[in-house]
Amino acid sequence: MAEAGTTENQSANGAPNDLEAFWLPFTPNRHFKRDPRIVSRAKDMHYFKPDGTPVLDGTAGLWCSNAGHCREPIVEAIQAQAAELDFAPTFQFSHPKAFEVASRLTAMAPDGLDYAFFCNSGSEAADSALKMALAYHRLNGEASRTRFIGRARGYHGTGFGGISVGGISPNRKFYGSLLPGVDHLPHTYNRERQAFSKGEPEWGAHLADELEKIVELHDASTVAAVIVEPMAGSTGVLPPPKGYLKRLRDICTRHGILLIFDEVITAFGRLGAATAAERFGVTPDLMTFAKGVTGGTVPMGGVLVSKEIYDCFQGEGGPDHAIDLFHGYTYSGHPLAMAAALATLDLYRDEGLFEQAAANESVMAEAAHALKDHPLTLDIRTIGLVAAFDLEGIDGLPGKRGYDAMCRAFHDEGMMIRVTADTIAFSPPLMATQDHIMEMFEKFGRVLDACS
Ligand SMILES: Cc1ncc(COP(=O)(O)O)c(C=O)c1O
Repeated sequence: MAEAGTTENQSANGAPNDLEAFWLPFTPNRHFKRDPRIVSRAKDMHYFKPDGTPVLDGTAGLWCSNAGHCREPIVEAIQAQAAELDFAPTFQFSHPKAFEVASRLTAMAPDGLDYAFFCNSGSEAADSALKMALAYHRLNGEASRTRFIGRARGYHGTGFGGISVGGISPNRKFYGSLLPGVDHLPHTYNRERQAFSKGEPEWGAHLADELEKIVELHDASTVAAVIVEPMAGSTGVLPPPKGYLKRLRDICTRHGILLIFDEVITAFGRLGAATAAERFGVTPDLMTFAKGVTGGTVPMGGVLVSKEIYDCFQGEGGPDHAIDLFHGYTYSGHPLAMAAALATLDLYRDEGLFEQAAANESVMAEAAHALKDHPLTLDIRTIGLVAAFDLEGIDGLPGKRGYDAMCRAFHDEGMMIRVTADTIAFSPPLMATQDHIMEMFEKFGRVLDACS
């Protein structure tokens, strides 16, 4: 057991590894430093604590390690890339692998998303997509289209654009007045109508029609884009009601509003298909991605864009030296990220990992829903290789039950799970076997008993 405030690990120079200086994101730091949850190694489906105890990865890290951990082909590709080309700018210059990744991603995406822009995270991807939507309308002669419509309980990262269109109050309330002119759709969850759903809930497609009311209020000529996660993830997993996304698509098309799917969590096999757009048969105008594109190994994000949008930026008759998009990041298309992405996409293809996730959807659903009658379980939602449990809260202490469950899972059961308030989410690497899935929920059953 680590002494409070240290890990068993010594730092490279042998000095004690002091926990104080690191301010962890989205973490209760005071408690964490007294009761740290630290892993120092990983392989395939497991993390390992500094003392060597295995920790079953029930969350693919943070929804990103879809191919599993420290997979040889990816590790080797990153190592080789670091030795061959460590950095190359993609402002005015580039390198071969950036083009290769763009071609691979646009080939994988639904028809019509033919161009790829690169950044380093999901937050940057969301902000990039919002900026592209604004600039597109302006270039297209509709500069009055400046409003964004997000959705309650939506998560689009932590940039100012992302939190403005996002719908999670604590992520917004500390940060001033945010972007002007943003409105929100209602979220799609209704426990009474949807409890214990497998796949898309039957009830709720009509909630998309709220968009018509919002558009009527503001007038379509002021609305640039609607942004939603096809499956809301960070808020605690809300699969879209059957038919809901199609209705959003139709309303956007009717009013000349761009539809952005934030697929930072859902792309790269999480729902048993390359993208949620593919699974649900609805194609947006812009699609953000991150996380699974490199299996979490090197930070990377991006936006897939329709040809119509890209073409609009190219203009006609302008001077050859004129820049078309005044936006980008030093590390857009970073060589290590590109090498990691190519190796990860190869692995997904060669091992059939998206197909494996699809095949295991029913295994995941059955194993999760087997805990339906546990007294702490208020709802369970499953879709693709995702499961979420709403737990009964503790009076006056919202979020404590979920937090306790996460701590117990790590310390007592050797399992990493994800908590949002009193909701627990599971999203293991796509390489999870049926045995891993059964083991996850056996462990979780014991966690629930211990928390009761
Ligand atoms: C849908 C969605 N968008 C954006 C983000 C932000 O990604 P990042 O943390 O890489 O900035 C996340 C992260 O979980 C996400 O789930």
